[in-house]
Amino acid sequence: MINRPRILRHNSSIRALVQETKLSLDDFIAPLFIVEGERIKEEISSLPNYFRHSLDKTIQEVGELYAAGIKSVLLFVKCPDEKKDNEGTEALNPDGLMQQSIKAIKNAYPDMYVMTDVALDPYSSFGHDGIVVDQQIVNDETIAVLTKMAVSHAHAGADMVAPSDMMDGRIGAIRTGLEHAGYHQTGIMAYSAKYASCFYGPFRDALDSAPGFGDKKTYQMNPANRIEAIREVKLDVEEGADIVMVKPALAYLDIIREVKNEVKVPVSAYHVSGEYAMIKAAAERGWLNHDQAVLETTMGIKRAGADLIATYFIRDLIRLLG
Ligand code: PBG
Repeated sequence: MINRPRILRHNSSIRALVQETKLSLDDFIAPLFIVEGERIKEEISSLPNYFRHSLDKTIQEVGELYAAGIKSVLLFVKCPDEKKDNEGTEALNPDGLMQQSIKAIKNAYPDMYVMTDVALDPYSSFGHDGIVVDQQIVNDETIAVLTKMAVSHAHAGADMVAPSDMMDGRIGAIRTGLEHAGYHQTGIMAYSAKYASCFYGPFRDALDSAPGFGDKKTYQMNPANRIEAIREVKLDVEEGADIVMVKPALAYLDIIREVKNEVKVPVSAYHVSGEYAMIKAAAERGWLNHDQAVLETTMGIKRAGADLIATYFIRDLIRLLG
């Protein structure tokens, strides 16, 4: 035999030497859920061991993450029902919870790279990512609000905005809006290939943001489509996205790879709430080894081509890789 591939698997030293993909804490973005109030740390029932924090507790959490080597957080806020409306007015409040949170985090930890979710669903009385007119999600009216929202986050000090809404043309509109407002250093991480997925369930519990009618299939992508993902990603790059994202991750590893081969900007993947919940639930029943499942899954996402991974396993990864 001339070719004996097992030679390179003979012991742990040679396996480490030829390992192609390595995980590092630099790869991860920590999603954070922020609620109004003080001294609140409440577990999200469908996201075991993941919490909604009030701003004071969020600052503490960010400090711990930063000390552990995590360099970026992605902020989501939970908006109380009485502040929700069709236009997402609260999203533009200069003293809103998002704006206050950005300021407080940047003030306490200036080097923590702060990314913010830009979409209307947490603020929408309909739980949709855009403005609703006659049961339709209207595109252009929505991107006008999203642009103001992004500028308001930049004004509060956000390093990068992350539009997760899937409206057409929003990356270009937001880039132009940021330029006009003088925010030349504010980046855009575009949720470019975001699929209409069942795996967002626990997230919608976390923010109480489930759509009140219908579904999100007129804006989020059909899970059956691949070519459409490339089209979406290329448009976002042309419109000025700094990072493009594929979401969810696990059922879309082929898309991550194809996007990675196709574009010359960093690719991120969102390892979403339902994907986290699945591993937690199986591990709880003793059906899977939790830590090995976390590492193997995360490794798979990186191997597929993700340069960055947003994940709720952040604390586990700190423990396992730190
Ligand atoms: C909404 C948004 C969603 C997620 C991130 N931003 C849910 C949705 O589109 O309904 C999901 C994240 C997750 O499931 O972890 N703009």
